[in-house]
Amino acid sequence: MSMGAFKGRDLLSLADLTAEEVQELLHLAGEMKAGRANLHCNKVLGLLFYKASTRTRVSFSVAMYQLGGQVIDLNPSVTQVGRGEPLADTARVLARYLDIIAIRTFAQADLESFAHYARIPVINALSDLAHPCQVLADLLTIQEVYGSLAGLTLTYLGDGNNVAHSLLLGCALVGMDIRIATPPEYQPHAAIVDQAKTIANGRSTITVTTEATSAVKDANVIYTDVWASMGQEAMASTRTPIFQPYQVNDDLLSHADSKAIVLHCLPAHRGEEITNAVMEGPRSHVWDQAENRLHIQKALLASLLGSA
Ligand code: CP
Ligand code: NVA
Repeated sequence: MSMGAFKGRDLLSLADLTAEEVQELLHLAGEMKAGRANLHCNKVLGLLFYKASTRTRVSFSVAMYQLGGQVIDLNPSVTQVGRGEPLADTARVLARYLDIIAIRTFAQADLESFAHYARIPVINALSDLAHPCQVLADLLTIQEVYGSLAGLTLTYLGDGNNVAHSLLLGCALVGMDIRIATPPEYQPHAAIVDQAKTIANGRSTITVTTEATSAVKDANVIYTDVWASMGQEAMASTRTPIFQPYQVNDDLLSHADSKAIVLHCLPAHRGEEITNAVMEGPRSHVWDQAENRLHIQKALLASLLGSA
């Protein structure tokens, strides 16, 4: 398969990809996971993470090592970034050394600025607005279970956050219906909902509601994430009672399709957004989901570096 159209591009949002490109990435990731596509690149990936990470940091690193490349951890506390060197300067310098960079930060505008100044591919490894790599892995996981994606219904419960935003765009791109159920003050950004509706172009239904039970009815995939994201920890205790009706528990799951699966991007707070019984229960696919970060990001790296 030729993935030449990806070479040199950025992935800052799933809206950067076409529906066909998402399908190509899912296919390549599946081939790599099955050992049918052993791609190689002798390139260097930088990881510039302003927030904590286990899965994204390790899966990107292992993906690059498995491709034959190298990884440099650009932890802001040991680079000049942490002492205030302007992002525009850092971007232009790092682009002279690295072949590709994954950045985890707060403001989407910082990612866009970095990408403007850096002449190498920039990957969004999570921002306050979006988590595109997570949702590509989620789609791979759902496809593995159901065989295909179009026509399925995913219900996301909890905070209308970065993961919810990328799920909106990802589901729209693959023709899945998506229902987002959140407390009234915590709905996803209207601009992202509109963007998803434009991408869906009538091929799938996008619903934003405050009703948890009706949102779950007959859904094929139930998805949740933490009620307070990184950077919002101080608000966690205020949020707990507000979000309680959106907890993924056995009672709520009884309204979903009888074969519905449960996903969570992790890390999870058992007893808050999801019960321990559901996390550890037969519907949970969270460990396959976490593994798929590796496979989809390997496909993404190979594609953006022009090795696929
Ligand atoms: N799901 C996810 O991005 O996990 P990390 O924060 O551990 O990278
Ligand atoms: N919404 C969470 C996702 C963590 C992977 C956060 O931003 O902290």
